[in-house]
Amino acid sequence: MSFRLFAIGLTASFGLAWLSVVVVPFFKLRTPSPVSFQEGVDEKEGIYHPKRAGRVVNGAAVYAANGCYQCHTQVVRPTYAGMDLARPDVGGLSPTIHPDGIDSRRESNVFDYSGLDFAMIGNTRVGPDLMNLVPRIEARIRQQAKDSQEGDLAEGVVAGRVADYLYKHLYNPRLFPQLYWSSCPSMPFLFEEREIMGQPSDDALDVPVEDGWEVVPGDKADALVSYLLSLRHDDPVPAAMDYAPPAATDGPQG
Ligand code: HEC
Repeated sequence: MSFRLFAIGLTASFGLAWLSVVVVPFFKLRTPSPVSFQEGVDEKEGIYHPKRAGRVVNGAAVYAANGCYQCHTQVVRPTYAGMDLARPDVGGLSPTIHPDGIDSRRESNVFDYSGLDFAMIGNTRVGPDLMNLVPRIEARIRQQAKDSQEGDLAEGVVAGRVADYLYKHLYNPRLFPQLYWSSCPSMPFLFEEREIMGQPSDDALDVPVEDGWEVVPGDKADALVSYLLSLRHDDPVPAAMDYAPPAATDGPQG
């Protein structure tokens, strides 16, 4: 084989792979064209506009800087690649735990990551997937309220408890075993422990701390919680994008 043929072969084998795995997907996914709901097939009409919430971009940077993606994924895999849709709370909520009794589970799609600098799909699942973190915590809080005879909670009360849970979880996930035992690392450096001067702060955390001291979230903790509060990706998508509608039954938990 001549050197020339070798060089052409080498360029072609790497070049083709680079074109098809990097260049073509980059241009196809950079500006995905809008998808319409179809009359008669979908319950909605018009064009699919994914929801966006909160001050998410700063929080995503804090999420990245602290390596959350090392243990948490953010992707609901299609069924050919995993059983995420069979779980009751990963791709959305199954009818048994959804407050309206509907099945909101769906796969992730390219629009779920639009507007973010990086798609935090993560690399291992040491911890649970966070794509639908908020609906999952909401369902858990509602269930706990029912179990403790507190009854149905108003939307606002649930939202307040979700944020409160996330702040405490970040400060130290192991302080609250009665709420949810966790092996997630604690991030106390995102908070400030300070002596109370005059009135205690409104946003002080309800955590065990020395008398006369308080724990208040820093800017990074606030940004990270805003980001975590935006993790809800269970809105209905057009049937054309819903490649594998979930089976109606719940599979194994976890
Ligand atoms: C070393 C791996 C690891 C890292 C790094 C990590 N986590 Fe976790 N996380 C876990 C594990 C494991 C759990 C599940 C604990 C359990 O279920 O007992 C968890 C649970 C959670 C939960 C609760 C999920 C739920 O359903 O209630 C949240 C929220 C969370 N982590 C956020 C974060 C954030 C934010 C970061 C980055 C600041 C982070 N985690 C970094 C391992 C990790």
